[in-house]
Amino acid sequence: MNAPCVRVPREAGEETRERLVDAGLFDGDRQIAVEDGDIYVPVVDADAVPADLAVVDRATGGRSQQTTPADLLDEPPTYERLGDIVVIDEDDPQRARAVADAVVASDVPCQTVLNRASKVTGEYRVREWERLAGESTETVHREYGHGFLLDPTTVYFSPRLATERHRVVEQVQPDERVLDMFAGVGPFAVPTASRGAEVVAVDANPAAIPYLRENARRNGVADRLRAVEADVRSVVDRDGDGEGDTEVDYRDWADRLVANLPHSADEFLDTAVAVAGDDCVLHYYDIQHEDDPFGPGARAIRAAAAASGDDYDVTVETERVVRSYAPHELNVCLDVRLRR
Ligand SMILES: C[S@@+](CC[C@H](N)C(=O)[O-])C[C@H]1O[C@@H](n2cnc3c(N)ncnc32)[C@H](O)[C@@H]1O
Repeated sequence: MNAPCVRVPREAGEETRERLVDAGLFDGDRQIAVEDGDIYVPVVDADAVPADLAVVDRATGGRSQQTTPADLLDEPPTYERLGDIVVIDEDDPQRARAVADAVVASDVPCQTVLNRASKVTGEYRVREWERLAGESTETVHREYGHGFLLDPTTVYFSPRLATERHRVVEQVQPDERVLDMFAGVGPFAVPTASRGAEVVAVDANPAAIPYLRENARRNGVADRLRAVEADVRSVVDRDGDGEGDTEVDYRDWADRLVANLPHSADEFLDTAVAVAGDDCVLHYYDIQHEDDPFGPGARAIRAAAAASGDDYDVTVETERVVRSYAPHELNVCLDVRLRR
């Protein structure tokens, strides 16, 4: 049977598939085909495909021969893929067990099934997990052409932020100096270095740093990415000895800052302003009430810039809703230019 497919060169296949999944356009009921170096990704609505992608009509096989977890349960489950880990979010232990068993018995490629057992908590933003199948909780997750080794039981990682991270990374120019203030295992920092930027990536979680270094290595950017295990406040000199507490003082250093610690990024704005160079873009993540999602962040950034004593021109260039976080609460990003 013929179906609309996006045709891209094989090397762009995974990135394109993820982009179409994010846009809700990927047709998971049909098979992806490969022919003559091109990949054909089936889509549910040809008219909604972004104009930069070519859509062709092509014969594709249905996926009915594949057993999905939904085929094995009365009520279809919701699950998420993190590399070869399947993540579920079930409160009822019986239902959790049934979903895990269905995932394992299905054709979903999966080594381990983890159930969310708490919210993301603590300084390191790691949740508790219940392991329902498999042994290893370490995996390699692919995002927009990069592979990230990680263990969600020891470090923060959310595959749901892929599109947002890509939006930010696409703005990076070669030779920029970029500080990722809360880098985790590197999903902003590594692709940023791949764009040719010099990156300093900081995280306070000791478990995140070996993954960050390994991810820089396996994606070929170890020479452009310095991973620092520290409280990010220590990248500027606070004791006045002429050096930052991380050996290098990054005051006035950055062309771009990424601050993805949404619940408390405002506590680090004095550091952000201190690290900002003469013309610097700050990507500031926040969680706020839907009635005024951008106002508190913008006001906090202006206040920090004014308190720095430098004469900053502060311009909010983009206000973006990343996702809904809780009822009436939004996870947002402000792209803010600080110009001295
Ligand atoms: C929400 S996660 C974001 C990680 C990464 N940017 C991502 O998108 O996956 C926030 C990270 O900030 C780190 N963190 C928390 N407080 C910190 C601090 N004072 N200095 C540096 N890193 C910190 C946590 O360990 C965690 O990895």
